[in-house]
Amino acid sequence: MSEQIKPHGGILINRMAEDKQRQELNLEHLPIIEIDSWTLSDIEMIAVGAFSPLTGFMGKQDYHSVLENMRLHNGLAWSIPITLAISKDKADSLVIGETVQLQCKKTGTTYAIMTVEETYTYDKQVEAEQIFKTSDLAHPGVKRLFEREDIYIAGPITMIQERTDRPHEQYYFTPAETRQEFKNRGWKTIVGFQTRNPVHRAHEYIQKSALEIVDGLFLNPLVGDTKEDDIPADIRMESYEVLLKNYYPQERTFLGIFPAAMRYAGPREAIFHAIVRKNYGCTHFIVGRDHAGVGDYYGSYDAQHIFLHFDQGELDITPLFFEHSFYCTKCEGMASFKTCPHAAEDRLILSGTMVRAMLRSGQRPPAQFTRPEVADVLIKGLS
Ligand code: ADX
Repeated sequence: MSEQIKPHGGILINRMAEDKQRQELNLEHLPIIEIDSWTLSDIEMIAVGAFSPLTGFMGKQDYHSVLENMRLHNGLAWSIPITLAISKDKADSLVIGETVQLQCKKTGTTYAIMTVEETYTYDKQVEAEQIFKTSDLAHPGVKRLFEREDIYIAGPITMIQERTDRPHEQYYFTPAETRQEFKNRGWKTIVGFQTRNPVHRAHEYIQKSALEIVDGLFLNPLVGDTKEDDIPADIRMESYEVLLKNYYPQERTFLGIFPAAMRYAGPREAIFHAIVRKNYGCTHFIVGRDHAGVGDYYGSYDAQHIFLHFDQGELDITPLFFEHSFYCTKCEGMASFKTCPHAAEDRLILSGTMVRAMLRSGQRPPAQFTRPEVADVLIKGLS
């Protein structure tokens, strides 16, 4: 039977140190680069191959090529810069070619080593406009970008210490492991679903619509850094468990966390999310309304239109586009702008902000919007 889908660039990258390499490594004299939780998540994603074909933080050529062409310097599609920022003083103290240790600011743990290939300056204004389509500091991705140090440092990394601080470790799988799991289950076609939210009825509707045409659903919630008012990942995980248990066919659904940070880059992040899910072994990827969006920075379907910039073979994963979905009282069921002929007042459409406020005040949203079991978990978690 046909092979599994190939990772982006053809090879699943593995930058986890072998035991022998760890034993022989002496960190004592290696300069320290301090990292935050965001960079730690990037390191992990690179090391396990989720960001294949990247083997480290991007050099200047790749960086500019990604900004300008949404492709790496070698022409391979890639839409989001994966970079490590350091201060000018720190950059001046380093020698090209030397090995540095990437150490968590908070815990003092060294998670990876990196060979310094290059340091370079960058223009935050240009990066913001290219990636986020705005330089408004009210945009969470832009804000973070402008808070970063001024120099990018690039080179391949090797992860020498796995994370041990992760809640819901049982849902953590590397791309090699998810690929194996899909194979074990006999799934040939797998749809990936990205979310940073609890799964509401509209999400459920588009996931199940996709399940009508593929073998399995990989529910892959993002659990890395998110903006402050998003619902914390540990609360969300329990809500996914009760939802799957009560409403999904167990043998056709697989829950695994996506431990990356949320960029809120809308269209460009949709491309990035699709490529990364291909690395996890997905053949299809759902892109609905305002994917990875925030505020009003992107049009509702910009994250779908951006796929037109790529040939099918370039991304090699099939995007499944869904229009705005909702419960319609006249249809008496879930529907979308594409399938429902009724008026706005017949459609149950609630904003995320409104739903979060309801949950925080202990109120269940309507069952046509959030499954009651899910609402109860969220109310408990947020109280
Ligand atoms: S995010 O990670 O893309 O920011 P979110 O949870 O808001 O997370 O959305 C997950 C996926 O569902 C995205 O592909 C998004 O476009 C899609 N989506 C969310 N709400 C709807 C909706 N009401 N109708 C159609 N698609 C939706």
